[in-house]
Amino acid sequence: MSDYSKYIWYNSNIIPWEEANTHVMSHVLHYGSGVFEGIKCYNTSKGPAIFRLDDHIDRLFKSANSYRMKVDISKEEIINGCKDIVSANNLSDCYIRPIIFYGYDTLGVNPKDCPLNTAIACFFWGAYLGDDGLQKGVDVTVSPYQKISYKAMPTTAKASGQYMNSLLSVTEAKNRGYDEAILLNAEGDMAEGSGQNLFYIKDGIVHTNDEKSSILLGITRDSILTICKDLNIESKIHRFSLDDLLSADEVFFTGTASEVTPIRSIDGNLISDGNVGELTLKLKDYYMNIVLGNNDQYSNWLSLLNHNSPVNSL
Ligand SMILES: Cc1ncc(COP(=O)(O)O)c(C=O)c1O
Repeated sequence: MSDYSKYIWYNSNIIPWEEANTHVMSHVLHYGSGVFEGIKCYNTSKGPAIFRLDDHIDRLFKSANSYRMKVDISKEEIINGCKDIVSANNLSDCYIRPIIFYGYDTLGVNPKDCPLNTAIACFFWGAYLGDDGLQKGVDVTVSPYQKISYKAMPTTAKASGQYMNSLLSVTEAKNRGYDEAILLNAEGDMAEGSGQNLFYIKDGIVHTNDEKSSILLGITRDSILTICKDLNIESKIHRFSLDDLLSADEVFFTGTASEVTPIRSIDGNLISDGNVGELTLKLKDYYMNIVLGNNDQYSNWLSLLNHNSPVNSL
């Protein structure tokens, strides 16, 4: 990683990035037994601000609960840890990655007495699907890999091991020259991208799915649904098919890292004429204005930090 930063928050201490190590026999390394979050901090007009921090940490704890992890650290401490580590690194625009994981004790699948460790890293990370993708839209493919079912694993939890399903689908899609994969679920409906939720627009109505389609309930997804409500744009939440996407007027991804990324084509089939749709652009601009602190109506979504960093990366 080239854009690393100086410090990491590790089990309540701020330590140098290079020293944040764990044993190779850590349970998480063998079984993926960790839960994590992906959060963004933006350089807003009022200084650095973390977007929907409390909601992300709430989800982190729900993920831990889904896996019966006995977290003995408070939400408040992790929230403060996120703020402190961004300030310690003197960052503004950055990605924040808290993770709670089982360390080294037993190699039994049952983690029993494995210690739970918590780390929070932050570093600069540019547009997840590329600047071009963000502006002009991305070309996606339907993955041959099925999205793990909510009946097999709690897809509403953001857990490390579950991302092997995402890894398979995104690497396979990249090998075939696509920007990203979209996955069908066990029922044959659309689920989501490897790391993004899916939306489509038909006749001015915004559509997306929910946990019944084996998705992660994205915080960006929730932000877009809230924005639709506030702008009197009709939205509907239901299961949908690949055909619904192919015949839509507009399709887009949402995600903390992907923000609002238009989808230009699916398996070579252009969505409408392949240009970014009007409503997608409107929602994207509205969302970006909120995260950048230019809309006071949503100031409760921003946790302002006290340091004033002019830099994007160290
Ligand atoms: C599988 C998956 N779905 C959806 C999302 C979008 O979630 P959020 O908007 O909370 O970042 C992510 C991003 O973390 C993800 O990994």
